[in-house]
Amino acid sequence: MRDWHKACAYPGGQEAEERMSNAVNKDDSTTSGLPSVLRQMCAVRPVDLSNAGGKNRLKQVLGAGTLVAIGLGATIGTGIFVLTGTVAASNSGPAITISLLIAAFGAGLAALCYSEFAAFLPVPGSAYSYTYATLGEALAWFIGWNLLLEYMISASAVAVSWSAYVVNLLEAAHIHLPEALVNAPLGLDAHEHVIVTHAIMNVPAVLIVAAMTCVLYVGVRESARANAIMVGLKVAVIAIVIVAGLQFIDTSNWKPYVPANTGTFGHFGWSGVMKGAAIMFFAYVGFDTASTTALETRNPQRDLPIGILGTLIIATVLYVAMAAVLTGILPLAQLDTAAPVAVALDSHPQLSWLSWPVKVGVIAGMTSVILTSLLGQPRILLSMADDGLLPPFMSRCHPRYKTPHISTVITGVLAAIIAAIFPLDLLTDLISIGILLAFAVVCIGVLVLRRTRPNEHRPFRVPWAPFTCVLGALVCLGMTFFLSNNTWLRLLIWTIIGMSIYAMYGFRHSRLRK
Ligand code: ALA
Repeated sequence: MRDWHKACAYPGGQEAEERMSNAVNKDDSTTSGLPSVLRQMCAVRPVDLSNAGGKNRLKQVLGAGTLVAIGLGATIGTGIFVLTGTVAASNSGPAITISLLIAAFGAGLAALCYSEFAAFLPVPGSAYSYTYATLGEALAWFIGWNLLLEYMISASAVAVSWSAYVVNLLEAAHIHLPEALVNAPLGLDAHEHVIVTHAIMNVPAVLIVAAMTCVLYVGVRESARANAIMVGLKVAVIAIVIVAGLQFIDTSNWKPYVPANTGTFGHFGWSGVMKGAAIMFFAYVGFDTASTTALETRNPQRDLPIGILGTLIIATVLYVAMAAVLTGILPLAQLDTAAPVAVALDSHPQLSWLSWPVKVGVIAGMTSVILTSLLGQPRILLSMADDGLLPPFMSRCHPRYKTPHISTVITGVLAAIIAAIFPLDLLTDLISIGILLAFAVVCIGVLVLRRTRPNEHRPFRVPWAPFTCVLGALVCLGMTFFLSNNTWLRLLIWTIIGMSIYAMYGFRHSRLRK
């Protein structure tokens, strides 16, 4: 972890330039029948260039254990500490455990595909670079744009729930902050339409994003160490809640396990379980963060699959156990709160001694998600700026701190603005749908790469491909259909904004075409 600060060493440099300009677009044969603009949008970045210019400037110091810590740092947060309660109360009931397993199944298939890519193409651009190498530039942009949801906007979403837990903690200490300064000015009504609330902005959410941005600006070496400590703390907190909570489970709270549908699609019943799975997918967002550290990994072919799959397995076990305990301790109606773990502990006097340490652990755990999310985003921006799809200043590094300071500040400012004004549920649903689509594309990308590069050695192979890849794409796509029409509408607006930026800037400045 010591040398994360050297990650700033790409842009590709002279070597990359030369290899890039000498390259014959040899993976491009599949697009030769298309009209010119479309063919250019489908241009594939030659696989052997994807790694150019970074590796020899970086120190490979990360091992499999550290990668799992990074993955868990980015994954375990709002999903398990907040959404478990609200989704159980509104969609899945006690069958939130089934929702979590369905989401884990989709994430697991995507994780296998990620692992094949990450071991084959150890590059920091993650899914963006994999797509560029297989399905072409425009789709790569779409994926890179959706990775903004995974990293930058999920940092905002987690900051919003961080704020809720901090407010809860302060209230327990009889410190009351004005409602208008701890809530978003926008909200969602019962029909998931955006409404204006009477709040001004979510100040604690802004402050935590600003603080993490400052830490990342001056050096990530300390950040990586802090992440490892926070991961230990949050895993310990979950283990303590599970073990201590077991004896307070009232099994009548689990009956019926799948409550009857209320007459509205997605409100309990099996449609509720499926909608719950789609929303809870947010809890698995971040399992692939290790893939952005590909160039700093000692043995990426072996360690990246371990980092990605290890994160997912550990997270799934913890999530399902925690969800079972929470729904067993509290009746559903009481779980509909922004701080369900805190409420569950407060509801039993025998558990109240745990309340403070657990709340502090939850807050530390969410802090690590914000930190790692804000850490991953600038690396993706660097890769995109290296490729000319974003302005070159976004790949610049601070001469003294050796951090991608400009991308870090841009990410931090945008994440803080979003955290200040948007409610949690609006952000999480948008993140889930965007990432589900991105993962579906990654699954398809593996098949394309197997076709375009059939004979190359793959250090990790998705078992039972193409069946696994097709199933992964279908499960991820299938889950999106259980999200609301309004979420689809927001994704459409998000995509139009992204593709407009690509048309106005990325398409014209792409280094691949130049
Ligand atoms: N998976 C992360 C969380 O649940 C984003 O907070």
